[in-house]
Amino acid sequence: MTLSPVDIFGSRILLAGPGGQVAAPIVEALAGQCELTAVARFSDEKQRQQLEAMGVNTVKGDLADHRSLQACPSDVDYVINLAVVKSGDFDYDLRANAEGIGNLMAHCRSAKAVLHFSSTAVYEYAGQQPREESAPLGDNHRAMFPTYSLSKIAAESVCRFAARQYGIPTTIARLSVPYGNNGGWPFFHLLMMKEGMEIDVHPEAPNFYNLLHSSDYIEKLPYLLAAASTEVCTVNFGGSEAVSIEQWCEYLGELCGLQPRFRDNPQAFGSLQIDTEKMHALIGPTKKDWRQGLREMVEQLAPELLLA
Ligand SMILES: NC(=O)c1ccc[n+]([C@@H]2O[C@H](COP(=O)([O-])OP(=O)(O)OC[C@H]3O[C@@H](n4cnc5c(N)ncnc54)[C@H](OP(=O)(O)O)[C@@H]3O)[C@@H](O)[C@H]2O)c1
Repeated sequence: MTLSPVDIFGSRILLAGPGGQVAAPIVEALAGQCELTAVARFSDEKQRQQLEAMGVNTVKGDLADHRSLQACPSDVDYVINLAVVKSGDFDYDLRANAEGIGNLMAHCRSAKAVLHFSSTAVYEYAGQQPREESAPLGDNHRAMFPTYSLSKIAAESVCRFAARQYGIPTTIARLSVPYGNNGGWPFFHLLMMKEGMEIDVHPEAPNFYNLLHSSDYIEKLPYLLAAASTEVCTVNFGGSEAVSIEQWCEYLGELCGLQPRFRDNPQAFGSLQIDTEKMHALIGPTKKDWRQGLREMVEQLAPELLLA
């Protein structure tokens, strides 16, 4: 028996990081049904104007600076944190990513629930072993994003601290590989294949992940909010079916008449398959078949590449 989703219709939501790859489809879905305020640094002013035109209230703020969040509403029903920064500067990234969620929660202490997006990049590499939520943590993404895993781990700790200190029901969702009609990792792979570039993969092939389509993560949001507790629910969040980089590239290749060329690189991100038991018990399985989702992505973003 999965949880009953919260009813977000008409609720007041503060969402951090609205312009990101994961957030954009969520913002689009929520804009019509909730009173949505979005906070980001809005280095791109056009993005802010687009959000305002969609009926989203915007606040220019930096999660690293708690004073800049004062302009955010504090009496919201839900807080969703999708902001992340990977500047490579440890001081700033720890401040924005880890202290940032603490700053948000300190500002919104009466929220009914906080949903903080984390990443499976918090897990130590363990080959093709599906990772349970209790699996050892590690500096998984160091080779490509030096500050990422460490600051995501730190962010989870700050988030738990704030949930317990302020009594805010909280869920931490450890996201696998999000994708959809606005792109994602598989789309980068397709672009590399188109250019005839080699795709670096970890030599312990195949490299499994859990592709999560935007339609699924949007549908599951109210369930993840329902899972929130002051003791903090930490749960993996990915597609129910594991699929490897090699498989999705082969499939994209079939769709577009391209042949993926893989290059073994021990520095490449290795398998990060999730154990889905807790996720399924709380929020149920995902629905989108990965092949269907990838085909729709190509139809939307690069229809000219599809074989007739
Ligand atoms: N994309 C993936 O493949 C993936 C995989 C696993 C987990 N995740 C997780 O999913 C979440 C969203 O990731 P994403 O890839 O969609 O992010 P993204 O595309 O890099 O977007 C990040 C968003 O955060 C905002 N932001 C960055 N620094 C900020 C700051 N200091 N203060 C306020 N806002 C800030 C950015 O806007 P401004 O620059 O204008 O401030 C932008 O709107 C993150 O928690 C990430 O760890 C993503």
